[in-house]
Amino acid sequence: MDSTHGQGASELFQAQAHLYNHVFSFINSMSLKCAVHLGIPDIIHRHGQPITLSELVSALQVPPTKTSFVHRLMRILVHSGIFARIKNEKQEEGYVLTPSSRLLLKDNITNLSPFVMAMLDPVLVTPWNFLGDWFRGNEITPFEKAHGVGFWGYMDKNPEFNNLFNEAMASDSQMMNLVVRDCKPVFEGLGSLVDVGGGTGIISRIISEAFPHLKCTVFDLPHVVTNLPDSGNLNYVGGDMFQSIPSADSLLFKLVFHGVSDEDCVKILKRCREAIPSKGKVIIIDIVIGGKSDEHELTETKLMFDMLMMTVVTGRERNEKEWEKFFLEAGFSHYKITPIFGLRSLIEVYP
Ligand SMILES: C[S@@+](CC[C@H](N)C(=O)[O-])C[C@H]1O[C@@H](n2cnc3c(N)ncnc32)[C@H](O)[C@@H]1O
Repeated sequence: MDSTHGQGASELFQAQAHLYNHVFSFINSMSLKCAVHLGIPDIIHRHGQPITLSELVSALQVPPTKTSFVHRLMRILVHSGIFARIKNEKQEEGYVLTPSSRLLLKDNITNLSPFVMAMLDPVLVTPWNFLGDWFRGNEITPFEKAHGVGFWGYMDKNPEFNNLFNEAMASDSQMMNLVVRDCKPVFEGLGSLVDVGGGTGIISRIISEAFPHLKCTVFDLPHVVTNLPDSGNLNYVGGDMFQSIPSADSLLFKLVFHGVSDEDCVKILKRCREAIPSKGKVIIIDIVIGGKSDEHELTETKLMFDMLMMTVVTGRERNEKEWEKFFLEAGFSHYKITPIFGLRSLIEVYP
């Protein structure tokens, strides 16, 4: 058998398949986006039993000439585990939801469709085409190379994308509904909490409802919180965390530090140290790379988030040692990491 560099042809063809799999990985993302765009998860859900291809085509209100294309779209989405195929009562093959596509149902509290649509919007996809040039250039991020302005500046000037992104983050935070009530000990003994970079305040609302004794403040950039109404024990304050952070017993940061450079992380944490009392704490919900029980897919997704932070903003994902270094440098004495949110961990940091 012919060989190149000592490898047999079959190994080389296998390598070609592996390579092409990576070349075309974006097709998985775009097929998923298309399914969300067409509302396929909700159609399957409403049908209440396995939906056949012809039933799906008719519910989608696309011309019957598109039937074979719908079949092909669904085939790859079944292959990637977004949907499954089983037999209905008449022994006909039909499509059903999987745990992943159940997270895309519009009326569910855990609806991640806005996250899919925002992350795969051309505004966030285009910068990837500038990654190579960015390495050689002077722009701070590939996002800036692509759009001529940094991410947060872009959001400030583009209300439509700002809303799309904030809805995406809100949908991500809604998942916290699943666990916040189990986190009672985390909030015990605290009278106030400021959710720094809290977006539209979904997680604060969940926390403020679960713990009515806690006075919660959502602190974010003015263009995010202006016009959001205070209610009960929840209020909104506009500001810049690089200028000042309101004082409270506890400061919450969900997915904020991973978007920020190492230098800024320490700067913000030092400010936090001054803003909380000696019995207070900083509560961080963020990615910790290299968890002992992380499986291959979880690690890959964390590394993808790391590349996303490099491409869009100036942040990165960190391992435990790197987090620890920040905490000690900022004057905190100890911390506790609990990996309870799948991709993200709960990190409690104490003075
Ligand atoms: C990735 S989002 C996380 C939002 C929210 N914590 C969540 O997880 O749903 C980061 C948030 O930080 C806010 N942010 C960015 N720069 C900020 C600054 N300088 N001061 C205050 N908030 C800022 C953004 O507006 C955005 O809402």
